[in-house]
Amino acid sequence: MSNFEVVIYEKLENVAYVTLNRPQALNAYSIRMRDELFEVLGAIRDDPEVRVIILKGAGEKAFCAGADLTEFLSAPPPVFARQARFERDIWGRFLSIPKPFIAAMHGYVLGSGIEMSLYCDIRLCSADARFGLPEVTLGIIPAAGGSQTLPRQIGRSRALDILLTGRWLQADEAKRLGLVNRVLPRCELFPEAERIASRLKDCDPQAISCAKRAIVEGLNMSLEEGLKLEKRLGKSLDL
Ligand code: COA
Repeated sequence: MSNFEVVIYEKLENVAYVTLNRPQALNAYSIRMRDELFEVLGAIRDDPEVRVIILKGAGEKAFCAGADLTEFLSAPPPVFARQARFERDIWGRFLSIPKPFIAAMHGYVLGSGIEMSLYCDIRLCSADARFGLPEVTLGIIPAAGGSQTLPRQIGRSRALDILLTGRWLQADEAKRLGLVNRVLPRCELFPEAERIASRLKDCDPQAISCAKRAIVEGLNMSLEEGLKLEKRLGKSLDL
């Protein structure tokens, strides 16, 4: 876990802290960040001591200002940069981890910043957070699953409004639309994430993981199949 440049990974009392750490570039998501996150998520998945994860951004100004535009829209050509992003299935890795993720977002939350948070289970933001998906205004579309995860989270019409127009949302609107669970004063953002993490880490990890699977996997099923899934998962917990 050493040699990381743009992600900080810390583990304390069953809580993993993952910090996007390029504050000078507003934590823009670069290929290096993708590679480091990929390693970190693998460690989180395989480490039974990790029971809950807090994802946050370093610095004062941003959770993440989207894909690194210096890689994305200039050299290397967009097609190669996008290809490189797909070669490691980081989003599949997020989805493969049945432990709860808490996103604690402040400042700019743009493009892949929003998309990353949509793989998290509980989304908190500070009152100064601003959300936007500028991809279409740049002549591209989201590449981190946003065109699929956003409508599943907030509905088709709201997702289209945000994606097609590229308009930004203030924290209150993000809360109203269901993009975040809670808006907090900036000084309360990380303490609240830690309070939630602390409650979750003290719960039975099997029950937490089954509850998460029931909801996340069940959403891709018919109600009938989902009820069967719930039954199976419930049985696996029977003492
Ligand atoms: N990729 C690479 N670098 C980025 C970046 C990104 N997505 N977003 C910000 N940065 C860099 C800036 O280039 C600047 O670097 P510099 O100090 O070397 O010039 C630094 O981060 C600070 O950004 P700055 O633009 O000075 O801050 P600001 O507060 O004036 O504006 C934004 C903030 C978010 C409005 C502006 O940076 C912006 O529009 N960023 C691009 C957002 C975007 O389109 N993301 C891609 C989504 S697909």
